[in-house]
Amino acid sequence: MTIDYSEKIPNNVDLANDKTLQRALEHWQPRFLDWWREMGPNDFASADVYLRTAIGVDAQGWANYGTVKMPDYRWGIFLADRMPDRTIGFGDSFGQPVWQQVPGEFRAQFRRLIVTQGDTEPASVEQQHRLGHTCPSLYDLRNLFQINVEEGRHLWAMVYLLHAYFGRDGREEAEELLARHSGDVDKPRILGTFNEPIEDWLSFLCFTYFTDRDGKFQLKSLAESSFDPLARTCRFMLTEEAHHMFVGETGLARVVKRTLEVMKETGTDDAEAIRRQGAVDLPLLQRYLNFWFSSSLDLFGSEVSSNAASTFANGIKGRPDETTQYQDHVCTDASFELDLPDGKGGLKKETVGMRNAMNEVLRDAYVKDCEIGLKRWNMQIKRAGHAYKLKLPSSRFRRAIGAWANVPTDLEGKPIGREEYERCLPGWTPSASDKAFVKSLMKRVVEPGKTASWIAPPDRGVNNLAVDYEYVRL
Ligand SMILES: [Fe+2]
Ligand SMILES: [Fe+2]
Repeated sequence: MTIDYSEKIPNNVDLANDKTLQRALEHWQPRFLDWWREMGPNDFASADVYLRTAIGVDAQGWANYGTVKMPDYRWGIFLADRMPDRTIGFGDSFGQPVWQQVPGEFRAQFRRLIVTQGDTEPASVEQQHRLGHTCPSLYDLRNLFQINVEEGRHLWAMVYLLHAYFGRDGREEAEELLARHSGDVDKPRILGTFNEPIEDWLSFLCFTYFTDRDGKFQLKSLAESSFDPLARTCRFMLTEEAHHMFVGETGLARVVKRTLEVMKETGTDDAEAIRRQGAVDLPLLQRYLNFWFSSSLDLFGSEVSSNAASTFANGIKGRPDETTQYQDHVCTDASFELDLPDGKGGLKKETVGMRNAMNEVLRDAYVKDCEIGLKRWNMQIKRAGHAYKLKLPSSRFRRAIGAWANVPTDLEGKPIGREEYERCLPGWTPSASDKAFVKSLMKRVVEPGKTASWIAPPDRGVNNLAVDYEYVRL
């Protein structure tokens, strides 16, 4: 189904035939634009940016690239096509037809999930607000802006659901999504990671690798939802999300590539020598990975959760790839074994009902997905003849939510004393001097085809264009 771009709000949900909803969303639209101007990419409103805009919700719908000034980007409401005869894929109502409306008894749960997802979208734009000023190349600048406009559209996706299916409560929540701000002391964003500052591009690349990947898993599990409009919304959002993770994975691969070049040129793996050449030593990169990975793990919630059990039982939120990855879609008898802290500085095994462990099931799948990039980067390092290996820390390390919250462990997840933890943490996550060094690398490079000292140029450009194409005209 093609998207109607003649409308004030482009959409494929036949908005023109629902005047009340259309009016409500047209009322929200200028507020969104005000928010974008204030909190979106700082100072780049008049730049011409080479962006893709969806014209359809199938794979070909993405082939539409053009030069756009960001405030003129056509944010709209796009749902993946309806799957005829779709039935509920998990939980107590397994096999029954999916819902086109929110059942009253699950309204609060759905609303909370949609609001929480919706809150992350503008939050990330706010976190990345100033990055444009220190871009390592025009190619990277364009990717940043592509991500920003798409996160803006993800906000639209959730706001549409709130307006269309949650009445007055939904409209109020939509207002609140623009009132909370990342890192705001009084009105912060809902989830911790989305209040962390992203002040440099190394953090941005880690964020798109780890935190956008959390987004992928949340969207995948919501794409299984029995509430069909939510499932269809998330299915389309996933096509956008793929690009965000691509930016993270290839970006970090380019950082590793550049570091290896410098190691070869200087003939040393000495951190100071590498830094003198304006590159990122691998242990420094490791500390950034430790930080963003552990922060992103908290987004999956508590290891044992009655809330997770009930959203699964009620058909609200499934597991990623529910149909293809799992045989048992009801999980009333299945169990899950967890390692939990024993409260005495050690570990204990505990077996809980599978439904109660759904957050952990998701987190495990996420960790596996995160490992793919590390394997690739380690292959680069190995091919260059070095023994150094990047590693994901244990999922028990530096947690702030769940059973392991505030339990001091080392990178392998072994519980250790509080004092030892405090002493070692500056060596495990970016220290003040690491951050200052990374900040010193953040010099704006905007000459077409040129790239900053700390990251290798990309292997190829966007949409078959040359790497030195002028992706952003300032
Ligand atoms: Fe998003
Ligand atoms: Fe994203």
